[in-house]
Amino acid sequence: MFIFVVLSLVSLLSLGSTYSTLSDETLKRLPSPGDDFNIKTGALLAPILRPRVSGTEGSAAVLQHFVDFFTKNLPEWTLEIHNSSSTTPTSGGREVPFRNLIATRDPPGSSSGEVGRLALVAHYDSKLTPKGFIGATDSAAPCAMLLHMARSIDAALTSMWAARATHGLDALEEAKGVQILLLDGEEAFQSWTDTDSLYGARALAADWEYAYHTAGSTYRTPLDSIELFVLLDLLGAVSPRVPSYFKTTHWAYKNMADIEHRLRELGLFKSSPNHPARMAKRKNKKPRTEPHFLTEAKKVDEAFLGGFVQDDHVPFMARGVDILHIIPTPFPRVWHEIDDDGENLDMNTVEDWTRLVTAFASEWMGLEGFFNSATSRAIHEDKSEFEIP
Ligand SMILES: *[C@@H]1O[C@H](CO)[C@@H](O)[C@H](O)[C@H]1NC(C)=O
Ligand SMILES: [Zn+2]
Repeated sequence: MFIFVVLSLVSLLSLGSTYSTLSDETLKRLPSPGDDFNIKTGALLAPILRPRVSGTEGSAAVLQHFVDFFTKNLPEWTLEIHNSSSTTPTSGGREVPFRNLIATRDPPGSSSGEVGRLALVAHYDSKLTPKGFIGATDSAAPCAMLLHMARSIDAALTSMWAARATHGLDALEEAKGVQILLLDGEEAFQSWTDTDSLYGARALAADWEYAYHTAGSTYRTPLDSIELFVLLDLLGAVSPRVPSYFKTTHWAYKNMADIEHRLRELGLFKSSPNHPARMAKRKNKKPRTEPHFLTEAKKVDEAFLGGFVQDDHVPFMARGVDILHIIPTPFPRVWHEIDDDGENLDMNTVEDWTRLVTAFASEWMGLEGFFNSATSRAIHEDKSEFEIP
């Protein structure tokens, strides 16, 4: 039978548990985005690297790119466009449309009020000024990371749910789904205030607060359904340092930090000073200090002083959603500058973040044992050249 061929003993045992660690083999097997992240020609990233101010043609084109990506590659994902509109300080009284894309993959046959979801979030709009602003780290690259992540776990989700159904395990625990939110209108049009920023996120959180599931559902609203809201922002510049912002989700931060540590140990972090390819070209083979993206894995409870960065999570957090905010402090050097463009992305770092987020989502969803090499190879061979800065 299919299932006994695919599953290892470990994964059979893990079928009934919630969070499960990925094996070294699986970490090695997670597909690289390869040429699809090429900034000029890449199928995933290049179409996002253009001005895409809310309500403009560029915004519509990028949204269409996302819709096409899911429709063509990931037909099992449910797509919804959430619409709202608002005047802005620069719209001269005109209502600007804001469109969030919500892509959801729930277990087959589940009803939406019964599914707890991992939400992975980035904003796709770009800032009105400076003129021609691209926003490669802010947040074109995070959007591309999420597309690649979705594609990388899709077949494993299918296998996992099929196996669970075969074993009658669905009744044992709550159903888990995954949701990608690509939000519009994060940027201020003039200068950041409570009303000139987060247009899409504010409208979505407000609407979802009262979008009740049928009576008696496990989760009352789509907001309640979010078990963890992972927000990626300002990623793709070299040497990021991301603190742990919230005590309540520090456990999830630690899980991600553990994965980062393991990816580095396994030589799978392309930006690492000790990556095997970089070491091979270096005369002095002594290992260098290994910096980490997630710098606060060991943070103690008393060290959480309540500081955080204003971003799309705020309207969700205000309504009780658990947040893991993956944004560096300090911000990238190019932040809100005209040179936050494709050329200034560090592609090794972009790829490392992608692998890290993909592994985190895979562990969350309990996908160990459900990646088989045939599918991941079919998704993408790693043809990318190793870049040494
Ligand atoms: C939002 O607007 C788009 C057209 O721009 C439409 O296709 C979509 O169905 C709308 N979404 C909802 C939930 O009504
Ligand atoms: Zn910004």
